[in-house]
Amino acid sequence: MTRQLFVTTALPYANGNFHIGHIMEYIQADIWVRYQRMMGNAVDFCGADDTHGAPIMIAAEKAGITPQQFVANIAAGRKPYLDGFHIRFDNWHSTDAPENHALAQAIYRSLRDHKDGSLIEVRTIEQFFDPEKNMFLPDRFIKGECPKCHSADQYGDNCEQCGAVYAPTDLINPFSALSGAKPELKSSEHFFFKLSDPRCVAFLESWTQDGKLQPEVANKIKEWFTVRTNPDGTTSEGLGDWDISRDAPYFGIEIPDAPGKYFYVWLDAPIGYLASLKNLCTKRGVDYEAYMANPLLEQYHFIGKDIVTFHTLFWPATLHFSGRKTPNNVFVHGFLTVNNGEKMSKSRGTGLDPLKYLKLGMNPEWLRYYLAAKLSARNEDIDFNADDFMARVNADLIGKFVNIASRAAGFLTKRFDGKFGTVGEDGAALLHDMRGQSSAIAQLYEAREYAKAMKETMSLADRVNAFVDANKPWELAKHPEQTARLQDVCTVCLKAFRILTCYLKPVLPELAAQVERFLNIAPLSFANITQPLEAGHVIDTYQHLMQRVDAKQLDALFEPLEQVEQAHIATELAANAKAGDKKTAKAAAPAVAADPTAPGGEAVAPTITIDDFAKIDLRIAKILSCTAVAGSTKLLQLTLDAGEQDEAGQPKTRNVFSGIASMYQPEQLVGKLTVLVANLAPRKMKFGVSEGMVLAASHADEKAQPGIYVLEPFAGAQPGMRIH
Ligand code: 2FM
Ligand code: ZN
Repeated sequence: MTRQLFVTTALPYANGNFHIGHIMEYIQADIWVRYQRMMGNAVDFCGADDTHGAPIMIAAEKAGITPQQFVANIAAGRKPYLDGFHIRFDNWHSTDAPENHALAQAIYRSLRDHKDGSLIEVRTIEQFFDPEKNMFLPDRFIKGECPKCHSADQYGDNCEQCGAVYAPTDLINPFSALSGAKPELKSSEHFFFKLSDPRCVAFLESWTQDGKLQPEVANKIKEWFTVRTNPDGTTSEGLGDWDISRDAPYFGIEIPDAPGKYFYVWLDAPIGYLASLKNLCTKRGVDYEAYMANPLLEQYHFIGKDIVTFHTLFWPATLHFSGRKTPNNVFVHGFLTVNNGEKMSKSRGTGLDPLKYLKLGMNPEWLRYYLAAKLSARNEDIDFNADDFMARVNADLIGKFVNIASRAAGFLTKRFDGKFGTVGEDGAALLHDMRGQSSAIAQLYEAREYAKAMKETMSLADRVNAFVDANKPWELAKHPEQTARLQDVCTVCLKAFRILTCYLKPVLPELAAQVERFLNIAPLSFANITQPLEAGHVIDTYQHLMQRVDAKQLDALFEPLEQVEQAHIATELAANAKAGDKKTAKAAAPAVAADPTAPGGEAVAPTITIDDFAKIDLRIAKILSCTAVAGSTKLLQLTLDAGEQDEAGQPKTRNVFSGIASMYQPEQLVGKLTVLVANLAPRKMKFGVSEGMVLAASHADEKAQPGIYVLEPFAGAQPGMRIH
């Protein structure tokens, strides 16, 4: 029977481009969706941007644009990633869309007005307030000294140095990371979803422990019903209520009947799944309520392990108690690390830049295959390793799979007009066995055991290759009396190739489409793979299906300083062009001063490695005092606070002379932040020792374009922070 599925991936924050962690999740879900369709099931695969919350509001303000414009800019950059990796959502929407506003408000009203008693409670809480910015500060925007280990500059929720968990009010000397102001405690009414209500606890205990969730996920959740960690690091019994409101100014959805109050972003974010689906229904002229009312509809969410609480407690409770369908399952995956590196953080996503991967001309299906070959149904981390990637793709996809077609197709086309022959007993047995694996492989896809599905498929490919090696078509081709056998063997190979392609199609959709064209067959599915192709079927001309991975591409992918390098190449070309010989002049242009065609009047310096860059320790420093230097028209003497202490634990300052007197009056600089080269060897000057250098910009041709400009960081930077 045809199933009806609604599938989503976690909605990415609209504050940055996709990183490889997003792409991995989307590929995992996309494979599952394509597999379901190949089983004849109907799937709607929806995504959206997660647009609300304080960080996006603040980022937009810093960029000098509205949050709406900010998230629209991010949304505009999504397509090349999705298209590039063959990730085919049926709809991509936004949590700021009208559907989401309406749905979130309707859902909230249902919770508030629940017939068995409201599940919303209003409580007055005390929170830090930034008197300069006139807003309550999210924990992440309050910093101060750790109450436990006394490290400076720690966030309001936990210490990155010692790992302590605490409330922002526990911080010593707290300050607002937005304005630097000392925050004040202010009380305000907040709206809570009463998850501790016995109705919610009973529902969630059953929903999370009824066997649908991955065992390791369900076990972790079990602990939350007995013990919970409070913001101050203490523990309490059972589920806590959930604070779902934030005060204006906030970029979010207004809470009905509560002026100045907005839903916390995590309340409306998952509702965005439904909003995207509703939007899709509208586009198709389908009634959304009727669609959701279908008792056979199955709803699945693919998510990362960091957002399990939201999806297995808050989200099902929100849906259930507002009278809606709850998810059939939530599929949790681990993090992706790159070259054994750190986890793909949400903000940085270091390591493997997906767009760079595509720009280098690397085949997206290599990555899809490599990830599939590593993914299981378990919530465990996987690592992208460049050497392993190259070995796996080249050995499996090229060596085992594509080669079968390239070896057989030539003979069939050249010698038999592309016509299939009859199949002998040995070939028939092989094909029979291969078709016999169809439901086992389908089951593995269904269970998201992609690594096992790839392994099974590759072991079938091994058998086909063994068949080729045993029959040696290149030898058969030398003997005219073996012509019929040659046609038989090549026919078996291509029929086997068709079956393998079917099993790989959820992972390699583009390659499968190419194969369908070349074999001249209808789109492959798990249903039609059991119907064999008849003798006399004619194939099209074989065209090469896939290149091998080249080590140079991987080197380029992980070359961190692409921009520097590109600028360098551009400089080289310009220099060579000037030398009158574009082709042969190879040497890099030396950095010559005052070249009017170069940026800032000078060629970009030769490429350095990230390790070279890491040698320079740049720190934020506050200019505590600034004075003219008697006897010098060029220099100013600066006293800097770069967050340092002496052995006695007392604040330590630096004395720096800087050649910026032509541009600044000393009093203009006092109190400002700037950038200090903190590990430059001290330099003895006529006027004293200079302990570092402050960064300033100038044109190479000082006469033509005078002026020197001291660097100042964006708001939020604090003395001592390192510049990376
Ligand atoms: O963790 C995140 O990146 C969130 N933006 C995920 C939201 S998923 C859903 F609830 F919208
Ligand atoms: Zn600490």
